[in-house]
Amino acid sequence: MIDDMLRTPEAIRDAERWTAHNYHPLPVVISSAEGSWLTDVDGRRYLDCLAGYSALNFGHRYPTLIAAAHAQLDRLTLTSRAFIHDQFADFCRELAELCGKDLVLPMNTGAEAVETGIKVARKWGYQVKGVTPGQANIVVAEGNFHGRTTTIVSFSTDEDARADFGPYTPGFTIVPYGDLAALTAAIDENTVAVLIEPIQGEQGVVVPPEGYLPGVRRVCTQQNVLFIADEIQSGLGRTGDTFACDHEGVTPDMYLLGKALGGGIVPVSAVAANTDVLGVLRPGQHGSTFGGNPLACAVATEVVRLLATGEFQRRSVELGARLHAGLRALVGRGLVAVRGRGLWAGLDIDPALMSGREACERLAGRGVLAKDTHGATIRLAPPLVITEEEIDHAVDQLAAVLAG
Ligand SMILES: Cc1ncc(COP(=O)(O)O)c(C=O)c1O
Repeated sequence: MIDDMLRTPEAIRDAERWTAHNYHPLPVVISSAEGSWLTDVDGRRYLDCLAGYSALNFGHRYPTLIAAAHAQLDRLTLTSRAFIHDQFADFCRELAELCGKDLVLPMNTGAEAVETGIKVARKWGYQVKGVTPGQANIVVAEGNFHGRTTTIVSFSTDEDARADFGPYTPGFTIVPYGDLAALTAAIDENTVAVLIEPIQGEQGVVVPPEGYLPGVRRVCTQQNVLFIADEIQSGLGRTGDTFACDHEGVTPDMYLLGKALGGGIVPVSAVAANTDVLGVLRPGQHGSTFGGNPLACAVATEVVRLLATGEFQRRSVELGARLHAGLRALVGRGLVAVRGRGLWAGLDIDPALMSGREACERLAGRGVLAKDTHGATIRLAPPLVITEEEIDHAVDQLAAVLAG
């Protein structure tokens, strides 16, 4: 097709004209998708190696998820929590069982789940632990990414995310990620929770040292502090287990979930915890008009059922091994490091060759979509339905980009 017949340039111009520039997307305009593949407005196909930052763990338009959504659209979509609907109990029970927890509190976005976790931990601190009123603190990690609300960016260490959005919410102590001694030293009598990602996604898929998560669990138990695991990106099959904490046999007091819980169809997030923790909330103290709506519950129940089979976790282990083997072979040939677990990888490009952004643009030119972060790093998080051949294809295209 000759260039001036393409629809992409005008679609990009229109999008830029009518939106705030809070993102810097790759110059592709997607119009349809199926499984691991996307098609743009000019009919070009791309292998999706980002999967909506793990929101599309089951790929695009997974048949049973789409069927659940269609069926629910034809029956009931929204009630608000003023009434109970018939999809609510099954979703909450099945998700609670998947998490091994007593209770679930559904919300919509990941940031809302994090805010919910913070509120619940503070209230638990005052009512159950006996923390001095107004003095609760939460220990968090350097390099964290937990969302974009004013409270959450208050404890971000990324200046782009934080600067100029103050005044900031107090009550957070930041320690280096992966450093158990620093975390232990930061805990005092007013600490109500430790809030960490078991693998830091946005930071570049940073895996903490072996033993760190069990150490956090031990310290939290000893000090009567809640261990809150933000599994919004790492959970629900991404790393080869249902939760990234499972890899080290660790059970947090509270799971924060989102992204893949909505099946790539609707925003669904949730907090899962036992009754002694989530039971501190009373009517009127927290909520959301859309949280736990019938459409969300119908889709998310199907997500939980897919995960309960274990098939997607297995795929992540097996295909992840293939992905990581392929990527490791590129270390020294354009990559300087590869990290990650399961179908999740952070790659550091040799900065002498090109930036992460440039690598992603060149990959897009070869029909593979991925996303850069922090300069020279690329994240790969393909849908868990990806095939061996598709993984090999993605690695081959990356090798070609790095070879120039
Ligand atoms: C670990 C983690 N927590 C929270 C969030 C925020 O989720 P949302 O963008 O749905 O608010 C994200 C999003 O990338 C995340 O990766």
